[in-house]
Amino acid sequence: MKSIAILGFGVVGCGVAEVIAMNHDRIAKRLGEELVVKKILDIREFPDSPFASLVTTKKEEVFEDPDISIVVETIGGARIAYEYTKMALSAGKTVVTSNKELVSTHGVELVKLAREHNCNYLFEASVGGGIPIIRPLHRCLAANKVERIAGIVNGTTNYILTQMAENGSDFDSALKEAQAKGYAEANPSADIDGIDAQRKIAILSTIALDGAYVDPTKLFTVGITSVTTKDMEYAKEMNASIKLLAVFENGEDGAFAYVAPHLVSKEHPLACANDVFNAIMVTGNAVGDAMFYGQGAGKLATASAVVGDVMDAAEHAERDAHVAEWFNAGDEVLAPIEKHHISVLLRLPDSVSDDAVSEAFPEISMQPCVYEAEGEKAVILGKDGDMTEAQLAVGLESFENVISVIRIF
Ligand code: HSE
Repeated sequence: MKSIAILGFGVVGCGVAEVIAMNHDRIAKRLGEELVVKKILDIREFPDSPFASLVTTKKEEVFEDPDISIVVETIGGARIAYEYTKMALSAGKTVVTSNKELVSTHGVELVKLAREHNCNYLFEASVGGGIPIIRPLHRCLAANKVERIAGIVNGTTNYILTQMAENGSDFDSALKEAQAKGYAEANPSADIDGIDAQRKIAILSTIALDGAYVDPTKLFTVGITSVTTKDMEYAKEMNASIKLLAVFENGEDGAFAYVAPHLVSKEHPLACANDVFNAIMVTGNAVGDAMFYGQGAGKLATASAVVGDVMDAAEHAERDAHVAEWFNAGDEVLAPIEKHHISVLLRLPDSVSDDAVSEAFPEISMQPCVYEAEGEKAVILGKDGDMTEAQLAVGLESFENVISVIRIF
């Protein structure tokens, strides 16, 4: 019998207990032994839960129990979860988590700690919810130089943008629905301001760079709070969707990672991911494009990835380096975002003259948009790959009344 503990009995923690109960027999058959949740550590009580008898507030019942060799951390955040993760790893217990904040903030230290104590720190569920992406990137695509990762990695914002585009919902009511469905972070600012996506692309970028740590807090990040229904109107006329993309690129100009809303052509596979679904396209120099799609948030979907990691850990009790060593490589691991080439849709009031736009963006390719809302001028800049973020920023300084700027994927 393999005994595990769950730290934090919120949406995902509860999902983990449910998946283990739901698929008890097939998990036992696969592992050759029963997988049992022995303790659930939480400060709250859950009298109505079928797992109520397992809940404890005493951490020693988890950390000092030699019978518990795998600990699931679904507390979230980087404070108590950090302390408990270090405690568990130091005691030689493998930790499995969905906590992207903790992985992206302290991954270097925690992966090292796991190795030092001959156990694992596994975090498949930290990116893409139920979608397999960490292990495929680290293992199956290991032969490639990863040239690009472009992902819709936040279910809440994708849900909001889909509701706005398809049902004309306003931002606030769509967010409330996402919260009611259990997709959103405790503080939804982490979703709508792009921080959650920033953490996830930092984790994927670190893996793509063979463990060279990418600090999420250094990434250029734009959330979705300024996306309007008028922007949606433009997207529709341009046969595109607006998606919050988390992007990693590794090319001739160096490696870049960033998060921002983008216009994505409806013909691109990424545009098919709606509602809470996530989609991640990885481009490798041998495999070409590989696409990963599925539910990026939610109780059972995320628990599916967590329990998959638990089973992997149960099958490989000895350390089995699922995650390559992470190391601090300094800020130079990424090129300055100012050098990144982009193209954008720029919306201005129609009182701005064509000459003023040309003067603001000299020698940058410019074409009219297929659609202009009443009273507006809309141009597409940098389609020929001749504009950097720095050039865009300088050009925008010429105008006091920019209506919106949306990057084009
Ligand atoms: N708040 C996150 C999301 C949860 O909406 O994608 C899954 O990481």
